[in-house]
Amino acid sequence: MKINQQHFQSIWLKEDDPTCVQIIDQRHLPHQFIIEDLSSVEAVAQAIKEMHLRGAPLIGVTAAYGMYLACLEAPQGFLFDDYVEKAANHLKSTRPTAVNLAWAVDQLFETIKTTENRQEKIKLALQKAEQLKKESIERCFQIGQQGLPLIKNLSAQKNGEVINILTHCNAGWLACVDYGTATSPIYLAHDRGIKVHVWVDETRPRNQGARLTAYELGQHGIPHTVIPDNVGGHLMQHGMVDMVLVGTDRTTRKGDVANKIGTYLKALAAKDNNVPFYVALPSSTIDWSIEDGLKEIPIEKRGESEVKYIAGQHQNSIKQVLLTPSTSPAVNYAFDVTPAHLVTGLITEKGVCAASEEGLLELFGQNQQS
Ligand code: MRU
Repeated sequence: MKINQQHFQSIWLKEDDPTCVQIIDQRHLPHQFIIEDLSSVEAVAQAIKEMHLRGAPLIGVTAAYGMYLACLEAPQGFLFDDYVEKAANHLKSTRPTAVNLAWAVDQLFETIKTTENRQEKIKLALQKAEQLKKESIERCFQIGQQGLPLIKNLSAQKNGEVINILTHCNAGWLACVDYGTATSPIYLAHDRGIKVHVWVDETRPRNQGARLTAYELGQHGIPHTVIPDNVGGHLMQHGMVDMVLVGTDRTTRKGDVANKIGTYLKALAAKDNNVPFYVALPSSTIDWSIEDGLKEIPIEKRGESEVKYIAGQHQNSIKQVLLTPSTSPAVNYAFDVTPAHLVTGLITEKGVCAASEEGLLELFGQNQQS
């Protein structure tokens, strides 16, 4: 994706130093564009936990590179795998909801166990991380292709008038490596000349919509409007939303969907107003081991300061200001679960399916892999 006409992905190896991973530090967007060097597994763990980067697919790919850095740090001999296993557990503990994290870390660990040779382990770890990155890009690209007909059909039904799409949080290329999940069909539709406009939920408390989705869409020239989180229901009641399109951090085999806190309320409003509610996801976000999202998906709880303080730019620097009485407690659930019956369809790299076990198995078959 482009930033000021220059092509960027959200993560890459430093050009002149293959022991350093570079990311865009998303805490400073949209006001400052800062590239951060990550040169140790601890730095990667901190960057994921403190949300220098975020979004389920990107967390997975970054953790894969973190495992590669762990291999570079690991001691010679029989303690190598122990060191890397500890690093794997540490990485997995940073953010519990997005399943892509454990999915990627486990694949890296399995890969390095296939050889006893230290140099070979390091080489395989890097190869695997690069492979996961490449696959993530390809899956997001395919999600765009698969989701495009949905927007095209809505456009045809409206005789080419603007299609208004509401999205929540940031499920764009900044949350992935490129293209995004929910944004991928939107970018494609816009590039094909279909008129789209995006309602961007601000997404309290960290404002990923207001800061990141608005920034991405603006860079791509897509008409959009930032709205407070509580406006969506009103817009839907007045026919101003043609489709809701969001991402997900973990989808169960029965189609329950965990996504950024507040997604469930949009799904309820969509149901009440007959607005189609679609969820876009790569297959790496499906947790085939669980069925009931409400009971089985771990919901991350973050610090109360993210609710009590709000950050923004003032006179060229980012400032935090206190929003609440300093003594009032706050609670910060980072995700909620939208039950499958509220989801119109899942847009995956393999096609669009019902949010159900039958729907997912039809696309991915019994081996459950793409
Ligand atoms: O807490 P975040 O910013 O990591 O949450 C991200 C989301 O909820 C996204 O919607 C989700 O990861 C889908 S990303 C393509």
